[in-house]
Amino acid sequence: MGTWCIEGAGPLAGTVEIHGAKNAVLPILSASLLAEETTLLRCPALTDVSAAKEILQCLGCRVTQALDVLRVDASGEIACEALPEQPAREMRSSILFLGALLARCGRARIGFPGGCELGPRPIDLHLAGLRRLGAEIREEGGILECRVGGRLRGAPIALPFPSVGATENLMIAAATAEGETVITNAAREPEVRALADYLNACGAQIACEDDHIRICGVESLGAATVSIIPDRIEAVTYLCAAAATGGEIRLERVCPAHLAAVLPIFEEMGCRLKTEEAAIELTAPRRLSSVAAVKTMPYPGFPTDAQAPLMAALCCARGSTLFIETIFSARYRHVGELERMGAQIRTEGRMALVRGVERLHGAAVRCTDLRGGAALAVAALAAEGETVLSETRHLDRGYCDFAKQLGALGAKIRTGGPPPSA
Ligand code: UD1
Repeated sequence: MGTWCIEGAGPLAGTVEIHGAKNAVLPILSASLLAEETTLLRCPALTDVSAAKEILQCLGCRVTQALDVLRVDASGEIACEALPEQPAREMRSSILFLGALLARCGRARIGFPGGCELGPRPIDLHLAGLRRLGAEIREEGGILECRVGGRLRGAPIALPFPSVGATENLMIAAATAEGETVITNAAREPEVRALADYLNACGAQIACEDDHIRICGVESLGAATVSIIPDRIEAVTYLCAAAATGGEIRLERVCPAHLAAVLPIFEEMGCRLKTEEAAIELTAPRRLSSVAAVKTMPYPGFPTDAQAPLMAALCCARGSTLFIETIFSARYRHVGELERMGAQIRTEGRMALVRGVERLHGAAVRCTDLRGGAALAVAALAAEGETVLSETRHLDRGYCDFAKQLGALGAKIRTGGPPPSA
């Protein structure tokens, strides 16, 4: 399960290099099923990425890795159109393989994804869009049976909500469809653009403009080498950890432009920021100030994935901060754990009011999900005394070398659990 003992040890200080983004690499790995050969540079070592690699191997691709360079050779036969169960369960976004499998094999069989810790995770927008492209989809006993006679056919698709996953799935499916697809009200996240850049590097014809994506289907995709864009959520998490501990941090290999909705919030909290083309420096005050309101929104708004770590940082701010979560219906599961550490938070539906307290204290808490877990690590670094953080496997889904990098910034973290006497 994984347990960390974290001792609040004062300000973090130092430099961190940001890894390639989880949410960029996963859709690219799904899409690699359609290309001849894909080489990914700066591929992060995460358990979600391992699950995606296993899915590709089970489907018949050759996957090799040397350090952070990952190669997928999908030029051979695809053995099977069914998504292997175990790795698909582990990788929550395995639904992203649906469009690629349909385009590549004309058929796909995939377990219906259940709910997850962020609340129900419907896939209606994915399915409605794929049907518009000509797929026939039936659900039988929790299994989705999908097929298409011949090639998928391009079509206009208006999304009722700019779902990141649905936009990506449809972009992948449409890349080799017959004719033109225009997705309107499409997601505009940098990771969506990175997927378009990858597909274009393979020979696709995709143009993204604001919330419109125009895809002219091509016969087939070739080979490409791309570098994975920096993980903006990993970057925010380190900024939160430095801010919460009154520290000073420099992030390198980061893209400040992707954090345009986030950086002003740190300034409002009283932090000093300096940005360069690919670096951010943050100097935190002794005590943070609260922020009027933080509302999560689709990009370019404030990212829902940054809500929990930021909340942890604001638990000890002077004054109260109102959070409004508009993207996921159940994304406050970390709140109960933060309260065990002395945080004062009132939630009501999609709102959470955080009243800053003088200090948090160490406690036994558990990672409720990936970003909730990151929030608890941030809180523990700022707390007095020792926090025993369990179920840290959630953190391995989205953070490379998290404990090690925090340690290099001065954090006191023992991985592997408390000593036998504790
Ligand atoms: C992706 C990210 C995740 C991030 C989220 C929002 C990956 C691997 N994951 O998730 O880290 O938190 O974007 O930025 O990139 N919805 C429907 N029907 C659908 C699809 C989505 O109702 O068919 C709803 C969801 O329940 C949710 C909202 O739309 O409430 C946003 O979901 P979506 O943008 O699709 O997020 P993901 O792609 O799952």
